[in-house]
Amino acid sequence: MINTINVLPPNSVRLFGPKTAIPHLSIIIPTYNEAGNIIKLLESIKTNIGNLALTEIIVVDDNSPDGTGNLVDDYIKKFNNSRSKGNIIQIRTIHRKQKEDLIQAILQGIECSLGEQILIMDADFSHPPETIPKIIENLQKNDKCVIVASRYIKGSVIKGWTLKRRILSLGANSLARVSLDMGNIKDPMSGFFAFHKKSIENINFDTKGYKILLELLVKCKKIKVIEIPYVFTDRITGQSKMDYITTINYVQSLWKLYRYGKKANLNSLDEKNSIKFLSKAGRFFTVGASGLLVNYLVSILLSSGLLAKLWYMESTLIGIVASITSNFVLNKLWTFGDRDFSPKHLVKQYLLFLIICSFGASIQLGFVYILVESNIPYEIALLLAVVVASVSNFILNKKITFRENIWG
Ligand code: GDD
Ligand code: MN
Repeated sequence: MINTINVLPPNSVRLFGPKTAIPHLSIIIPTYNEAGNIIKLLESIKTNIGNLALTEIIVVDDNSPDGTGNLVDDYIKKFNNSRSKGNIIQIRTIHRKQKEDLIQAILQGIECSLGEQILIMDADFSHPPETIPKIIENLQKNDKCVIVASRYIKGSVIKGWTLKRRILSLGANSLARVSLDMGNIKDPMSGFFAFHKKSIENINFDTKGYKILLELLVKCKKIKVIEIPYVFTDRITGQSKMDYITTINYVQSLWKLYRYGKKANLNSLDEKNSIKFLSKAGRFFTVGASGLLVNYLVSILLSSGLLAKLWYMESTLIGIVASITSNFVLNKLWTFGDRDFSPKHLVKQYLLFLIICSFGASIQLGFVYILVESNIPYEIALLLAVVVASVSNFILNKKITFRENIWG
């Protein structure tokens, strides 16, 4: 498995094609059975790219049974012979032994690339070469950005997809955006995007499947995203390679990335500490209120005979445990967005949460006692005590259970 990016080609693959001058831009095109598309695509890229930048095109082929890789090699031979003056495109092929995984193929392409700018695209004309100049123009102006050709912004069009495929894509897209906090990125699943190689220097890519952009967005915390519209057209020649394994890989990657941590929602990255603190406090107290409801409902359901007919003290106890547990889960997922679900960590956190909440309860009791004994009316004493206990619950859980700074 390739995880780190370096420019030296590994021994496991065969490289074909010249390395004449160091290009600025490397276009990586993964292929599997794209014999009907690839040569036309290379021609079209040549036409569209003009004199934009010294460019290399790397076709990463997984030993396609239809001979895609050899077709490209033959084309390279012809292309070199007919090299006209001022030609600024060099094409190379990476022949991998077998079809394994699209992300791995793309990473191998990046690993062998010479350009500082990387553009990834499909071979089946779903990603129109006419859009490349616009992507590159944006990339050259913004060297800390990833430029994403997006299907879901104003000005974009999707052609040729069935309703089912549209719904599936939108569903998968929304799932990723919500679970990885990427609401402001409209098409994090795009396969057509460009970035500077230095942006991914220390990134360890370890998911499988199709969604390399998603992983890049989650792991390159500082990268900004610029989305540009384009016309996506479903392939006319050849077949999609997406199958049920792609779906399984997708769900696994999402889970892995979710656990990896929050992708800095680009807006929230820049949020002030005061806003972060207040929004977390707001969530924490909303969860607390929901806990009261859980407590009440569970106790009633268990004592009234609706779910069971337990002794009221037993029902109350179970109600308390249920509300503490639901509070814990909601705070972990929603308030603090903690993605570490290892059993040991979970148990430790749950116990800490219990201890801190019990501590809060004793603070509340103590405060009520002191205030009432100092002749403050019970209603006011109780209110003050609840406020002090909940603030202590919030601060202590933030700091100790969820290991965050108090401020922020
Ligand atoms: N080397 C290699 N190895 N190439 C592959 C492999 C593989 O295992 N699987 C697919 N490819 C190549 C195809 O030949 C094509 O050039 C490109 O990757 C995309 O594959 P398609 O089979 O055309 O995928 P798709 O159209 O279903 O999915 C596209 O759209 C998705 C969004 O809906 C891709 O762009 C995805 O990345 C994108 O998420
Ligand atoms: Mn396709």
